[in-house]
Amino acid sequence: MKGIILAGGSGTRLHPMTLAISKQLLPVGDKPMVYYPLSVLMLAGIREVLVISTPVDLPHFRRLLGDGASLGLTIDYAAQPAPEGLAQAFLIGAGHVGYDSAALVLGDNIFHGPAFSDLLAEHAKNVDGCVLFGYPVTDPQRYGVGETDADGRLVSIEEKPAQPRSNRAITGLYFYDNDVLELARELTPSARGELEITDLNRKYMAQGRARLVDLGRGFAWLDTGTPESLLQAAEYVQTLQNRQGVQIACVEEVALRMGYIDADSCYRLGAAMGNSDYGRYVMAIARELG
Ligand code: G1P
Repeated sequence: MKGIILAGGSGTRLHPMTLAISKQLLPVGDKPMVYYPLSVLMLAGIREVLVISTPVDLPHFRRLLGDGASLGLTIDYAAQPAPEGLAQAFLIGAGHVGYDSAALVLGDNIFHGPAFSDLLAEHAKNVDGCVLFGYPVTDPQRYGVGETDADGRLVSIEEKPAQPRSNRAITGLYFYDNDVLELARELTPSARGELEITDLNRKYMAQGRARLVDLGRGFAWLDTGTPESLLQAAEYVQTLQNRQGVQIACVEEVALRMGYIDADSCYRLGAAMGNSDYGRYVMAIARELG
């Protein structure tokens, strides 16, 4: 399975914070936002990642993540010149996906929960159709909203409905089989001029090949779209990290635990940032697991 991180957009709801820097590079707690979705892909077992962003922001992502080799990954970059929809990721990223299945994660989505890597690995293998992940929220009208039948098959999906039919928001993590490339090519722009991810998912639903998996209690799916939610996400991360002494979305630790890099390489990555608590944590983990 190939991974795509979509980190475009202009982050207007976060102005002036995002006037000079991409939203997905803003800090959430002690690390850049994009580390969170990147760690999700890594936990799903994905090692080939395409980062899509605006032409002006791409160099910054490249400076942060490089070619991915230090994390045992291959990271490539592609531009989305205009905000023409999430589903456009599969037109831009068609060459990257090739004949494989694909996982798309939105660069501003933060997931944290128990046994997440098991859940991801289970659904990443042999994807037939698409797998969406639902999360109960109090304000579903802000998101894609889905309903399922008793077997977990998606039976309705709406984008930002005024009258939501359920409280299950569709999160920004999507697994697709290779048909996604063809189905994305068939899409036409919506009223707001975008290729909508919800329209893409609706095509799978029409074929009876869309599943919605619930991320239930004990799971966190956090929003970073407004100054307040960004602060709440940072507080969540810092609260858990300080209490337990365990990092959330430490990509070096994930790479080590997943076997993408060895302990020596991990230690060196930490040492290069040894002036920060984060760097010292990476060094300590490398020593502990080495
Ligand atoms: C997008 C999707 C929406 C999804 C959300 C998750 O909305 O269109 O279906 O629920 O991401 O973050 P956006 O945040 O781009 O408005």
